[in-house]
Amino acid sequence: DKSTFVIHVNGQKHRVEVESNTPLLWVIREHIGLMGTKFGCGVAQCGACTIHLNGNPVRSCVLPVSAAEGSEITTIEGISEDNSHPLQKAWIAEQVPQCGYCQSGQIMQAVALLEKNKKPSREEIITHMNGVICRCGTYVRIIKAIERATL
Ligand code: FES
Repeated sequence: DKSTFVIHVNGQKHRVEVESNTPLLWVIREHIGLMGTKFGCGVAQCGACTIHLNGNPVRSCVLPVSAAEGSEITTIEGISEDNSHPLQKAWIAEQVPQCGYCQSGQIMQAVALLEKNKKPSREEIITHMNGVICRCGTYVRIIKAIERATL
């Protein structure tokens, strides 16, 4: 059975009518139309679907919409309107993406780190980014870009 949920995404309220166990990822993509958040594995193993829930990185493929109601959700589209976030600039400068598919998840994971820790060490960066999978193997450039953004 469908129910109505009011969810807050990037500062805007959206009313959606879905089943309560619908993953937030589908609501973001199919109902709200924000396509920057990607579906990779669907079982919380890859990180392509990472968004922020009240500032914390979470995997939206396994978060039911009912658990997201009342929280502030931020997607890659909410980070900046024009790629002006320091991490986005660093990503461009370091030419991080290859195929690009996982990169919004990578950036969302990185943004969450810098919001809590302005000057993470290389070790802290590696630990925090661990588990967001990139099949092209852009990890070295990801770390460089995060370090660049903290300069
Ligand atoms: Fe959500 Fe892989 S799609 S973790």
